[in-house]
Amino acid sequence: MNDRVEPRGSERAAPRGSAQDGPTRAGPDTTPRLTESGLPIEPVYGPEHLAGWDPASQLGSPGSFPYTRGVYPTMYVGRPWTMRQYAGYGTAAESNQRFHRLIEAGTTGLSVAFDLPTQMGFDSDAPLAHGEVGKVGVAIDSIEDMRLLFDGIPLDRVSTSMTINAPAAVLLLLYQLVGEEQGVPSAALTGTIQNDVLKEYIARGTFIYPPQASLRLVSDIFAYCRRELPRFNTISISGYHMAEAGASPVQEVAFTLANGIEYVRAALDAGLDVDEFAPRLSFFFVARTTLLEEVAKFRAARRLWARVMRDEFGAKNPKSMMLRFHTQTAGVQLTAQQPEVNLVRVAIQALAAVLGGTQSLHTNAYDEALALPSEKAARLALRTQQVLAYETDVTKTVDPFAGSYAVETLTDQIEAEAYKLMEVIQSLGGAVAAIERGFQKSAIEQSAYRIAQEIDDGERVVVGVNKFQTPDEEPYQPLRVDPRIEEEQRARLAKLRADRSSSEVERHLAALRRAAAGSDNVLYPMKEALAARATVGEVCDALRDVWGVYTPPDAF
Ligand code: 3HC
Repeated sequence: MNDRVEPRGSERAAPRGSAQDGPTRAGPDTTPRLTESGLPIEPVYGPEHLAGWDPASQLGSPGSFPYTRGVYPTMYVGRPWTMRQYAGYGTAAESNQRFHRLIEAGTTGLSVAFDLPTQMGFDSDAPLAHGEVGKVGVAIDSIEDMRLLFDGIPLDRVSTSMTINAPAAVLLLLYQLVGEEQGVPSAALTGTIQNDVLKEYIARGTFIYPPQASLRLVSDIFAYCRRELPRFNTISISGYHMAEAGASPVQEVAFTLANGIEYVRAALDAGLDVDEFAPRLSFFFVARTTLLEEVAKFRAARRLWARVMRDEFGAKNPKSMMLRFHTQTAGVQLTAQQPEVNLVRVAIQALAAVLGGTQSLHTNAYDEALALPSEKAARLALRTQQVLAYETDVTKTVDPFAGSYAVETLTDQIEAEAYKLMEVIQSLGGAVAAIERGFQKSAIEQSAYRIAQEIDDGERVVVGVNKFQTPDEEPYQPLRVDPRIEEEQRARLAKLRADRSSSEVERHLAALRRAAAGSDNVLYPMKEALAARATVGEVCDALRDVWGVYTPPDAF
């Protein structure tokens, strides 16, 4: 089943951007086209499309239930969104330098990319780490690396997002330990851990433990942060990676919110009160070039989540009903051909995120379809946000599309279709049960296949790729990661293991295993182990010893 809706008319709508665009001898082609979600998009909207539509219940005011118009009363008029550029590669020292340069360039939030070994809970000297150390993000093996990563950066003055999932607890505790060393009270630390393993089973793949153990770990993190790190956002429930894998906007919203519902249920089952943890849930979506549908998508997602939290989970605290989110512009829509054209795509995608009310934004660099972003491209990506925030008028008024015949119609339609898809997932037993049947993965693969076909057929125009090509393009020189990084990390690990008390480390790891086998919160013994210089891999292995690892079903 997928979420495509047949067009209203009897005839099939002309496809998006079809090569037959534009007027013909018989006159302009006015059949409705389809949105990315397969919804009909009318050539002209008017009052008839909003007949019976009630602004009071469907919109509310900005900062009030159901938050369609945004989560804060003043939104960007009060404070621009956080410019939070995803960065990290090589060693902690190298990434620290990139962070300092981003702060100097005006970024207002940090966002750490970790290398795959770290994301998979392996040390840089693990056999499976070979060839990946420092490649797609920074290598973090211990508190020593984490200390280097934030050298010269006062943690009471920045909010830091960490894109880490299965080992999220480990990196969170390392961050807290470095904060303690800087003399920053833990209650003052702000930031976000992605900590969304369910979407890793569906897309992206950096999972370690089976779903139930992962949900237990997420609930332990919620409880730990409630007590020790009350200003830290405990999870970034992500639609981005599912969208990048091919999910349509309706699927992105439905699968993401269904995962959110699963996390809420797990926390309630662990004995937490909904208003104790829900205010620190956050979300993460993509922004595509199809601006109108994306603005409608963000508005629909806020309204859906507000209603789910109030009506299904009985949340009373308004902050429990606010869907606060980060957005990244669509990496999959970047092209390697004519890479400068990506500057235009990213600007439009960023505008969609801002008009949709994002709280935090990462803009992709124009050369990222080719390699890690160059310094110049990374700076241009940030400048794109600064032009939006300081040269346009989008920060002068809240939710300017409110009342738009087109965007309000699309918002209602996306909400309705996403809700239907969420009900299908609930009928399968919830997100985890659906994941174990391969339901979301299969639906996303079907969407991805359709998109690929449309590009191959020329039905979907990709400028520079299947239309408006320039054959004599000059070759691009990408940034290369120095292969000596792996040797450097292995040497640092050998020194760390030689210098520390292995008996003390083993004692703390044994306590961690006991907590994992029982019901005690695992983050407390985990923090002791990390403080004694246990490595990321050793801590994750201690949990592997108790919980095992997940092997996905071959569901196609
Ligand atoms: N009026 C009043 N208060 C306001 C306001 C306004 N207009 N605007 C902001 N504020 C307040 C907020 O209430 C908040 O205060 P609080 O912390 O006391 O609640 C403070 O100002 C900061 O505002 P936000 O919380 O809205 O902004 P943040 O940037 O701090 O947080 C977030 C945004 C979405 C809630 C948070 O979860 C976040 O930063 N997420 C980022 C996630 C991220 O960067 N992910 C990257 C993933 S990369 C990846 O996975 C892709 C790769 O795989 C390719």
